[in-house]
Parts: sequence; structure tokens; C-alpha cells
Amino acid sequence: MLRSASQNVTPSSLDIGQPLVRCVSCDRNASGGETDFRCAGCGDILEIRYSLLERGARLPQSDIDALRSAWTRRKTSNAPEDQSGVWRFRELLPILADARICVTHREGNTPLYPLPRISRALGLPKLLAKHQGMNPTGSFKDTGMTASISVAREKNFSWVACASTGNTSASMAAYASRAGMNSFALIPDGQIAWSKVAQALDYGAHLLQLKADFDGCVRVLAEVVRKFPVYLVNSVNPYRREGQKTAAFELMEQLEWHVPDHVIVPGGNLANSSAIGKGFAEMRELGLIEKLPRISIIQAEGANPLARSMSKNGGRSLEPVHAETRATAIRIGNPALWKKAVDALNETAGRCEDVSEDEIAIAKAEIGAEGIGCEPASATTLAGLKKLLRSNLMQPDESVVLILTGHTLKDPEYALEFHRDGHFAAQSAEAARLRRPPLAMDADSGAVIRELEKLAH
Ligand code: F0G
Repeated sequence: MLRSASQNVTPSSLDIGQPLVRCVSCDRNASGGETDFRCAGCGDILEIRYSLLERGARLPQSDIDALRSAWTRRKTSNAPEDQSGVWRFRELLPILADARICVTHREGNTPLYPLPRISRALGLPKLLAKHQGMNPTGSFKDTGMTASISVAREKNFSWVACASTGNTSASMAAYASRAGMNSFALIPDGQIAWSKVAQALDYGAHLLQLKADFDGCVRVLAEVVRKFPVYLVNSVNPYRREGQKTAAFELMEQLEWHVPDHVIVPGGNLANSSAIGKGFAEMRELGLIEKLPRISIIQAEGANPLARSMSKNGGRSLEPVHAETRATAIRIGNPALWKKAVDALNETAGRCEDVSEDEIAIAKAEIGAEGIGCEPASATTLAGLKKLLRSNLMQPDESVVLILTGHTLKDPEYALEFHRDGHFAAQSAEAARLRRPPLAMDADSGAVIRELEKLAH
């Protein structure tokens, strides 16, 4: 519950308790002084749990009805904390004391689209895409950033920081500036899409381009935050993942609380898949849903430490890889949240697959041709779905939701390289069918009509 919020729901059973910040491995309670969000005992990551959920309490049906209708009703309110697609679920997000602190760009509330052409081509009638790239800064990061930046404001920090493959830095910059805070990001030099660099600069971040990959930037930042009073907003920050779990709540609301068979998420640092898994698990604990969807995670072949670990040892250990993929958002070789992602896979009988660069490029062009587009990392979900169908790991009558994580304008160069330059999948008939290179011609209506006649055939 948020103090001073406009519309609260008050039955006492809806109080899921104070957040407990705990280590995911040794269960030790955090002291609050862990500036790198690592357990002081064993060094593993921290997560947020709630006392009511620890006891496994189900809500009575009357409270479930009250919650669902309050969440939907808030969408018509003018209060910022109600318009936010994160904070309108605040009963399951009791991490902030007062609505006046919350820093929101009205994130969340993202569309759920049918994909009719792809559905037809795959013979998969119940296919939808939840487009988290339609968030205010163009990626799903905003749903977590509103939570972590609000907590940073509550704790009176004046600096926030992240290491990033681009989207986190853009989102952090936008939220930090709204909150009157300074922000800086460590980014891998020359390895992130320029539109994300431009966005972060425009929103007010200081960017430090390190001669390192993303994993190197994470390592350096972990040392910095132990020595400099700055609040870390990478996805090891457990409050960020609390914000990101609301995508699962919103999806269920959009599906009128009918659980899909399968949800497919791209995997990089593996925070989003973990957060969505947590959201579904909490809804089931409370009785808001009766079963869990299978949650599958798709990585790029060149950045596939989790896919390797699952096939080699069932996710018991993870060997970092040197990551290389043109889907730069997920060029990550040593994902921080891998253990939680393994839990999400195991608890939901999900699969972790990897897909090739060509498969990602074709899938991205197909999502583009649906008129919605996405950035390359998001297209791994469709490429992975096709792989699951080919391997008979999914049946055509299943209901499937792809989580698209970033907007197509996040990496416009990629679309030009595909359509204009023919850089991806050059030998593939599928890519040739999708490719539409721009044509240069004289300013002559006859020439234009001749071209249109050719295209119409
Ligand atoms: N999709 C996009 C568009 C991303 O930006 C990211 C991660 C992911 C998927 C993977 O999500 O890391 O939670 O598994 N981007 C981070 C960044 C790392 O810095 O912007 P994940």
C-alpha cells in the first residue's frame, strides 16, 4: 500500500507484509548496507520476499475480486501512481512508503498484439506479443527503473549508476533526471546501438565508454559502488526486478486471468525472465491464477551461457562465455541472474534455447512486417518459438505470448543492414522474400508506376 495514494484497497488480508531482502543462496537477511546488492555472507545476489507469501497464504475470492477491479479502475484515474502500469499493482509491490516519492513516466500499460501473418504461417492460431518496447523510453527497463529510482529517492541518493548494453542506461537517465538525480553509465565502447547512446545523453546521463564488454563494465561498476556513494540500478538491484514482475500481472489482466500455455522471453542478464517468473509465482501463491505458464528463455547462439548450462548440466553450474552477437542488447556472457532463471525454467517446465544470427534477423523482419517491429534481441523470442515447434517441444494448439522487450527504433541500423545492405541471412529464401531494399530512381511518375506494377506482381 502507498501512503497518500489516490485509490487504495484496504482489506487486511491484502497486506502482503514488509519486504524482506534475502540472499537467493544462503537465505541470509540483508543488512541494508550492501551497496553492490551482493550477500555479505556468500556473495550471491539478493531478492525480495514478503512475509505473507512466505507463509503461503491464499487470498479469499472477495479480495481477489477487489484487487482485480481496483487495478483496472486505476487506469482511468488522473493520479500518476494510478496511471503507472507498475504502481497500479502496488498491493503486490509494497516497497515504497509514500506515493509522493514515486518517480514515474507512466510506464507499463503496454499493448498485447495478435500477429496474424506469423500465426497463419506457423499454424499457431493462439499467438500474441506483449510489446514492452512500447514503454516511455522504448524498452521494458522502465518498469523496473520506476521502482529502483523511487527507492533511490527515498534513500536520498543524489547519484545513480548502471553498466549497460544501452537500454538500461537510457531508462536510468530518463528516470534519474525526472527525480533530480545525477546518473552515469558504464557502457562497452563501440558495442551498443547508437540510438541508445543518443537517448541516454539526451535524457541527461554521463556516459563512460570502457574498453571492455558488458561483463567487464559490470565488474568495474561493482568496485566503484563500494567506494563512491552511488546507488546501483543494474538488475542485481532487487527493487528493479520487483517493478519488472508487474509485466506478468498486466499480461494476466489483459488475458482476463486466463493463463497462457507458454510465455517466451529473451535472455541476457536473465533478470527479466526471473522477474516475470516471480510475478507468476506470486500470483499463484495468492490464488490470483491457478497454474503457471511454461516460461521459456531464448538466447543468441553467440551469447548462450544459460542454454549451454541447461543442456550440459541441467543448470547446476554456469560457465561464462565471451559473448558475441549483433543483438547487442543481449551480448552478455556472464549473466548475474542465472540461478533465478534456472528456477523459473524448472518451476514452469520451460525450455532454454539458443538461435542463430540469421534466425534472429528473419524473425525481426517478420515482426516488422506485422507493423509493430522490435529490436533484434526481442526477435529471439519468435526465432526460439519456431525452434520449439520444429523440435516438437510445443504443440500448435498452445496459447503463446512472446515478450518483445525493445522498440524497433532502438537499433535502426540493423533494419537498414537487413533491407538495404542484405547483411543477414544472405543465402536464405525466407530472407529474400522479406527483404525490401529502398530503390533510388528519377523523379518521374512513369518510373514510379513501372516500379509499382513490378511490386504488385
Ligand atoms: N531485450 C532487450 C531489448 C534488452 O535491452 C535486454 C537487456 C534484454 C532483452 C535482456 O534482458 O538482461 O533481463 O535478460 N538489456 C540490458 C541493458 C542488459 O543494459 O540494457 P535481461
